Amino acid sequence: MGSEDNNLKGNRNFQQRKWQGIIHEYGDFISVEGEKINIEPVTLLEGNTPLIESVCLAKELRDMGFSGKIYFKYEGLNPTSSFKDRGMTVAITRAKQIGAHATICASTGNTSASAAAYSARANLPVFVVVPEKNVATGKIIQAVAHGARIIRVKGNFDDALSLVRKISDDFGLFIVNSINPWRIEGQKTAAFEVCDTLGFAPDYHFLPVGNAGNIYAYWLGYKQYKALGKINETPKMFGFQAEGAAPIVRGHPVENPETIASAIRIGNPANWKKAELAVKESDGLIDMVSDEEIISVYRFMGEKEGIFCELAPCAGIAGFIKMVKNKKIKMKDTVVVCTITGHGLKDPEATMNLIKTKQFFVEPKFSEIKKVIEEEIKKSKEKDLEMEQHKF
Ligand code: F0G
Repeated sequence: MGSEDNNLKGNRNFQQRKWQGIIHEYGDFISVEGEKINIEPVTLLEGNTPLIESVCLAKELRDMGFSGKIYFKYEGLNPTSSFKDRGMTVAITRAKQIGAHATICASTGNTSASAAAYSARANLPVFVVVPEKNVATGKIIQAVAHGARIIRVKGNFDDALSLVRKISDDFGLFIVNSINPWRIEGQKTAAFEVCDTLGFAPDYHFLPVGNAGNIYAYWLGYKQYKALGKINETPKMFGFQAEGAAPIVRGHPVENPETIASAIRIGNPANWKKAELAVKESDGLIDMVSDEEIISVYRFMGEKEGIFCELAPCAGIAGFIKMVKNKKIKMKDTVVVCTITGHGLKDPEATMNLIKTKQFFVEPKFSEIKKVIEEEIKKSKEKDLEMEQHKF
């Protein structure tokens, strides 16, 4: 033992505040019809995700006349790498509380990954019902890792959800989709965290919209914090669907939804009316963006902001950019939060298909590696000039 260790010992009384998950942190504000969580939480210490200030997007948008602060709520840093863990800790704890014997969900992938992890932790069997196609590999891998029974439906998410609604009634399975109010109760804690971090609510909150539970959950959170006197104003809620899967924008269900952002490939959202209520009450909007716009943001976020998102959250950010371009939001001294709902590692195929790979295969020789590096440095100087001119 050196003297450095002795110094460390002297510091051991120092008390760092321990994060113990969202039920521990916000349980007093979580209830459904007057009932509360009253057992030890099933938790993987979800929540407490960073609110990262934008550097590069802020710079790009300044050139379009937007000034203020842009923050990314990076929900990809939850235990299963998506925002679903907030709702899942509450839903699975509730399942335990009422003595459920198994859980079930329909999913485009992230809900199933989260349900699988939290059900494993609670020692509950879990059935995840997912479309046969268009589910990102990482999400399936997670369900496999956590020992879920995976049922692949030869149809889309909407088919899967309607089957799950029926079968859960027949077999008394505890459904952990966002039609379960306990899920929404957990998810609203992200809004609490945004306010606790900033000390106030943002002017605008941008989100991708799929089954439409999350935008409603955030709105509930902001409204509750205002009622509690913790914030003075609530933000305007802006949700974005992908053009090929935009039932709310179009005003009717879409039978064969299509988008590269498979997480939000949904044609008949279960929380449709609730999402509409959230945007109406907050004076916000639900609109849509193209797959091209989503992909452009996907590349930008990874290559410029250093934040690896999956494609779905890029719809929300693309929507924000669109609003700035069309000057549809307040352009001066504006505080904006965009939620990054899931981590890019979920969908490795998307990355390999959409981002130009810069891999060089060389012999183990000094001359070869030198040649590559020299050429790349030369090219990157030219490319920097190109990037300066990059515009959305
Ligand atoms: N972003 C990601 C990464 C998602 O996985 C989802 C939904 C959304 C956004 C949309 O959120 O449904 O509350 O409007 N994923 C669900 C799932 C449908 O099954 O994993 P929403």
